[in-house]
Amino acid sequence: MAPLRGITDCIYRTTFLRYFKGVDRVMAPFISSLSAANGTRRIKPAYLRDISPENNKNTELIPQILSNDPDDFLFTAQHIFNLGWPEINWNLGCPSPMVTRKKRGSGLLPHQGQICRVLDAVMARYPERISIKTRLGLDSAAELYRLLPILDQYPLTEIIIHPRLGCQMYKGRADLEAFQNCQPLTRHRLVYNGDITDQDSYSRISQHLPGVKRLMLGRGLIADPFLSTGLKAGGLCLKSDSDRDILKSFLDDLLQQYQGRLCGDSHILGRLKGIWRYLAVIFEDSDKVRKKITKTKKLNNYTEMVKSIFAETPFSS
Ligand SMILES: Cc1cc2nc3c(=O)[nH]c(=O)nc-3n(C[C@H](O)[C@H](O)[C@H](O)COP(=O)(O)O)c2cc1C
Repeated sequence: MAPLRGITDCIYRTTFLRYFKGVDRVMAPFISSLSAANGTRRIKPAYLRDISPENNKNTELIPQILSNDPDDFLFTAQHIFNLGWPEINWNLGCPSPMVTRKKRGSGLLPHQGQICRVLDAVMARYPERISIKTRLGLDSAAELYRLLPILDQYPLTEIIIHPRLGCQMYKGRADLEAFQNCQPLTRHRLVYNGDITDQDSYSRISQHLPGVKRLMLGRGLIADPFLSTGLKAGGLCLKSDSDRDILKSFLDDLLQQYQGRLCGDSHILGRLKGIWRYLAVIFEDSDKVRKKITKTKKLNNYTEMVKSIFAETPFSS
């Protein structure tokens, strides 16, 4: 499961794993540290709560760091490893202009010297415990093509590539040719991530990239939580009535947990609407379903709306 900040928090992740199959490992959304004017650093308690072992039971979790500085990375990594997680992922993919402007996420990809400074420090302490999640570059795939051979000198666990440029955000298609071009440039294991939403996209991608054995699923999995089960079983089946019951129970469970964790209808609804933004496509007439959910202002309207959607709207075929 890919990290999706604002959606795949610990409640979503652990609940997902209780209701659906096929996901082996789960990556948490990025964490960064804050530094004060007096030079001290800290990590927001909410970030640490999200990756604490007690909030992530029965999960093979990989926490993720967003950073461009060796000391800052080591500070955050130390906190995470102290929690007992065996591996950390480094985010070199975030395309948000707020992030890239600060030379973080995909904004660091044109700055190889800085990437190496971070890795020199981090690998000396934590060999074989760091993976990288990256895009092709900020402005050009040449950035990753240049970087991959350099990364061969570092003992990384794997490299996950979402083959888009940072400047593209989510526009266009994932570039399978560019992913293919990356394969001979690295000794590291590559994981493919991007635009797997159904059996057809999975088949197209796996035919194009026969050497790739590991996949990361993001928006497609939020939209269809049965996707991982189907792909692992060798093909998606038509969803049954019991699948509708499973999905409904999953959503009820999420609601109950968010009510226990968050305060105020709008806060709780914000989380649920974030999920429905993607999940609506599992139903026929998904735009209408999405609008119905978006319009709800109170939790009791939301509950009624979900009930009526499940009673009246078939899954899309
Ligand atoms: C709302 C949202 C939040 C995301 N948050 C993160 C994040 O915290 N860390 C990260 O590495 N990628 C993040 N991503 C990128 C996804 O993990 C993934 O790489 C991207 O969506 C492409 O995969 P997909 O087509 O399977 O969704 C986010 C994407 C979205 C849409």
